[in-house]
Amino acid sequence: NTMLSWQRTAFHFQPEKNWMNDPNGPMYYKGWYHFFYQYNPNGAVWGDIVWGHAVSRDMIHWLHLPLAMVADEWYDKNGVWTGSATILSDGQIVMLYTGSTNESVQVQNLAYPADPSDPLLVDWIKYPSNPVLFPPPGILSKDFRDPTTAWLTAEGKWRITIGSKINKTGVALVYDTVDFKTYERKQGLLNAVPGTGMWECVDFFPVSKKSENGLDTSFNGDEVKHVMKVSLDDDRHDYYALGIYDEKKVKFVADDLKNDVGIGLRYDYGIFYASKTFYDEKKHRRVLWGWIGESDSEYADVAKGWASVQSIPRIVKLDKKTGSNLLQWPVAEVESLRLKSNEFKNLKAKPGTVMSLDIETATQLDILAEFEIDKEALEKTAHTNLEYECSISGGASQRGALGPFGLLVLADDGLSEYTPVYFYVVKGSNGNLKTSFCSDQSRSSQANDVHKQIFGSVVPVLKGEKLSLRILVDHSIVESFAQGGRTCVTSRVYPTRAIYGAARLFLFNNATEATVTASLKIWQMNSAFIHPFRPDQKS
Ligand code: FRU
Repeated sequence: NTMLSWQRTAFHFQPEKNWMNDPNGPMYYKGWYHFFYQYNPNGAVWGDIVWGHAVSRDMIHWLHLPLAMVADEWYDKNGVWTGSATILSDGQIVMLYTGSTNESVQVQNLAYPADPSDPLLVDWIKYPSNPVLFPPPGILSKDFRDPTTAWLTAEGKWRITIGSKINKTGVALVYDTVDFKTYERKQGLLNAVPGTGMWECVDFFPVSKKSENGLDTSFNGDEVKHVMKVSLDDDRHDYYALGIYDEKKVKFVADDLKNDVGIGLRYDYGIFYASKTFYDEKKHRRVLWGWIGESDSEYADVAKGWASVQSIPRIVKLDKKTGSNLLQWPVAEVESLRLKSNEFKNLKAKPGTVMSLDIETATQLDILAEFEIDKEALEKTAHTNLEYECSISGGASQRGALGPFGLLVLADDGLSEYTPVYFYVVKGSNGNLKTSFCSDQSRSSQANDVHKQIFGSVVPVLKGEKLSLRILVDHSIVESFAQGGRTCVTSRVYPTRAIYGAARLFLFNNATEATVTASLKIWQMNSAFIHPFRPDQKS
């Protein structure tokens, strides 16, 4: 057990032990951030799901609290599944969650704090007349789950959406309510995309076209776009679309209907699922949480006694420069963990170089880096028909004229293990540059019972922009953001040698033509020392 403990993260949220999955009911209440999560108290695999609970002042330093809800009613006997919090206009909190009943029917249930004056909200009461919603006609009993945070309609009702599927079409059902006890099903669907299968953990919220601030979920008007996010059970990724929400027609229409019929963008091109946002009224921002699973074996999870971490909470906003994607960025609070830093200015990396960056240990890092491709090389490089795609083009060992270049994280001195996080630029036949941002796990570990995929996607780079990235390295997680968070890639890696004091960081340029100039600032990161809950602890 302790033998495998280097894989535990130091500043990403984790329970003390056992299995965790979706984030649930995140919110800010009376000075505390609350985080609930899908949790198996009995082991490191999915099952026996209840709600774990933790609180924090800053979403980085956490205190674990007792389980918020356990499977003690017929309507959640097979699991207290995913749900969302809504804070009503008078400050009251309602929690809606899915219960898997004693017969494994998915129903929606209402819960609320036993003592609203307790800022830690330790005790929860389930509404005595639960369930409040059963699967409607035409919806199968196991296709009805994960209610959203509610938002207000113009007539003052609360509206929620719940994911489902009809045949192979993923759909979002809509209900209006006044008291969260009785509901009116709205005709039609908020959104439906053929061929996408079951929609889990739908999230629906406005983003501002003007302001950098986040918006309350009920906010609507000319200056907003809406985001619809769905978690596709079939391929285990979170997809979103930007679009227009028509309250009267109870309809969301995606801006870009061409790409995968309007749900083609990904929050993250690595491991990131069942995510959920909330509006943080303390700092006027919308914050995204996402579940990051393991990519080792279930056997290894059982051996190490835990599975899954949560992403560092990310601010989400509209990318005003492109207008066609979101930006995600770690909340500023994570910077409170920054310790000693090293700066490297204008390092020139010639084609085919690997350069050690002398920063002492490299298992807990916050890295900011900028790259510039040598202008001459950019101009004289020939146009090509070749396409580069992170996941299928051979990763960081596939050399091209203008890439790959970037960083090798969680590497050992002898480079027997390393994880390249990199850009790959291709000059297309039209002369335009196309930039990919990738994370290559194929040489990340000597272990052979771990997945070693290559993740990533295209990242829009606008005129005059340098290539920029941010990477949070935390033992077994590498969370990467390109161009201010336009494209994000999170991976789990399981080095056996590049651990603790043996972990190193390298700059690399595997391009054949281009010299790359890199400037970096790298911080060692403190641990967040997540506090266990020990009510009986004697000091
Ligand atoms: C998503 C999900 C949800 C469900 C929960 C059960 O990962 O399958 O749809 O409510 O997890 O743990």
